[in-house]
Amino acid sequence: MALLVKNGEVITASERYVADIYCEGEQITRIGKNLTAPPDCEVIDATGKQVFPGFIDPHVHIYLPFMGTYAKDTHTTGSQAALLGGTTTYIEMVVPARNEEPMEAFDLWNAKASGHSACDYTFHLGVTRWDESVASQLKEAVGKGIASFKIFLAYKGAFGVTDDELYNTLKFAKEHGVITTAHCENPTAIEERQKEFLAAGKTGTEWHERSRPVSVEAHGVHHLCTFAGLHDAHVYIVHTSCDASLRVAEAAKYRGGKVWVETVIPYLMLDSSYAELPDFEGAKYVMSPPIREISNQKILWDALSSGLVSTVGTDHAPFDFVGQKPMGKDDFTKIPNGVPAIEERVKLLYTNGVRKGRLDVHQFVDVASTQAAKIFGLFPKKGTIQIGSDADLVIYDPDYRGTISAKTHHMNVDYSGFEGFPIEGRPETVTVRGKVAVQNGEFVGDPARGKFIPREPTHF
Ligand code: URP
Ligand code: ZN
Ligand code: ZN
Repeated sequence: MALLVKNGEVITASERYVADIYCEGEQITRIGKNLTAPPDCEVIDATGKQVFPGFIDPHVHIYLPFMGTYAKDTHTTGSQAALLGGTTTYIEMVVPARNEEPMEAFDLWNAKASGHSACDYTFHLGVTRWDESVASQLKEAVGKGIASFKIFLAYKGAFGVTDDELYNTLKFAKEHGVITTAHCENPTAIEERQKEFLAAGKTGTEWHERSRPVSVEAHGVHHLCTFAGLHDAHVYIVHTSCDASLRVAEAAKYRGGKVWVETVIPYLMLDSSYAELPDFEGAKYVMSPPIREISNQKILWDALSSGLVSTVGTDHAPFDFVGQKPMGKDDFTKIPNGVPAIEERVKLLYTNGVRKGRLDVHQFVDVASTQAAKIFGLFPKKGTIQIGSDADLVIYDPDYRGTISAKTHHMNVDYSGFEGFPIEGRPETVTVRGKVAVQNGEFVGDPARGKFIPREPTHF
């Protein structure tokens, strides 16, 4: 059945106009004034509403075996929460352990999502060691539509790669037209500091940030950019938290480095004082790199507005406050790292970016959707509203007022890091390839509609 969205204010990264959007099958086929539709067409009146392209979260963890436990969401819960928050496509990190095979991991992660996701998805494939077998498996993965890798410079002994592995991964990525996303922190500095703190009885959540300060992250960014520069490889720095890292990335870009920068919503909204909350409340805010001192917030917002930071993801990694975070009650290094946010990213960005004048509405669309689509080979299928694009639409009610709470969210986790934060506007209706998935802020869609979106390598 066709779908006609009438009279909405269509807003993309570059345009803003009132029009009707007609969708046939899975795509947008017409955009114009006073469009007519066949009698059986579903019609949505979007008068007074904003119509955005479906938002894209370039950094999520759904299936995540990590720090002795598993992240709480499944694709069923995570994708529905994503859609309720306006995210119609996410890119999940496939993270094999060092002794696991990348293709087996790809198949496992794909099986977890396939038939269980309500929104579309694709993967960054983790490279957690390097040898001939890994190289041939990565070649196979590229043939199956993987166009981005993930490497960790942190998490020594778990996912982290050595320098020779980093060198060879980036060389391979360049040769095969793949962009490499990277978690940048110096693992040795972290490990030594953690040992020192624990030996001194410094075991509480407040020591997490101090064990991996901004210089440690900036060092990781420099390390990545140095190695990428040797191959002219394309790299994407995930979850950038601070000014120090931005300055290093900026310098690498200035030298001609093919470097893109992501930040994530917790860094824009929270600061290091949250991880210092008493009674172990701080554990809710333990993630890596850590949430930084408040002065970094404005710098990140400014970097978004200037274009130095291209995307805002979530790094959604949900671990319960009761039952999981307490694994590190007496040792902050054992607290499962992560803050859930897949449902809240777009609303927080709109409320605190657009409404507070930090981003204009086009920049908002750009950083929350279009840039991710362009960087990761999804554009113009995703990330914009134009004829031929997938009919992933977010009809946004700018007049809605609400408050974030774990009592009302749909993520499968027992707390919100943004409890009580006010929200201005919300996705009222959301479509996935032409089918309504969210109506009046409720999930009404097909829980299995989501599909894997294969991507072509880019021959840079
Ligand atoms: O704390 C975080 N970021 N948890 C998820 C894993 C990662 O490093 O992205
Ligand atoms: Zn990370
Ligand atoms: Zn992550």
